[in-house]
Amino acid sequence: MASDLVRFSVAMPESMLEQFDELSARRGIIANRSEAVRDLIRERLVEEDLESPDVEVVGSITMVYNHHQQGLSQLLDEIQHEHLDVVISKMHVHLDHGNCLETLAVRGSSASVHALADKLLGTKGVRHGKLVCVATEPAMSAESHHHHHHGHGDA
Ligand code: NI
Repeated sequence: MASDLVRFSVAMPESMLEQFDELSARRGIIANRSEAVRDLIRERLVEEDLESPDVEVVGSITMVYNHHQQGLSQLLDEIQHEHLDVVISKMHVHLDHGNCLETLAVRGSSASVHALADKLLGTKGVRHGKLVCVATEPAMSAESHHHHHHGHGDA
């Protein structure tokens, strides 16, 4: 990974940059935008690495969906029943009158976990959703620690 640093410029709305600086400060990366941006890109690259289809991963799929949409909760249940090998556990929270929050714990090959996430999160009526996963294979685990390691001091 060690190589010469390249400088480039990025255009974005001022308010977005302010929010990004606040996020960086919360994560303990103080007054170093370059480090903060590198962290973000590194996270994304690690995520993409996980998409090697055969890598074993564990993680969670979180989604918020409309409780009132006809047939939606049954459909989401059916999809999960078709992927029993991937879904380890589920938490369902009735958020308010119209919304449910569901978090699934998942385990399996990266391909099967992503396939399930794509199906669930792509279902019409699912408002917000995200898959978070990390590789369990020894060769990957050191690299994936970047996910949980913010504010480190290297330049
Ligand atoms: Ni509910």
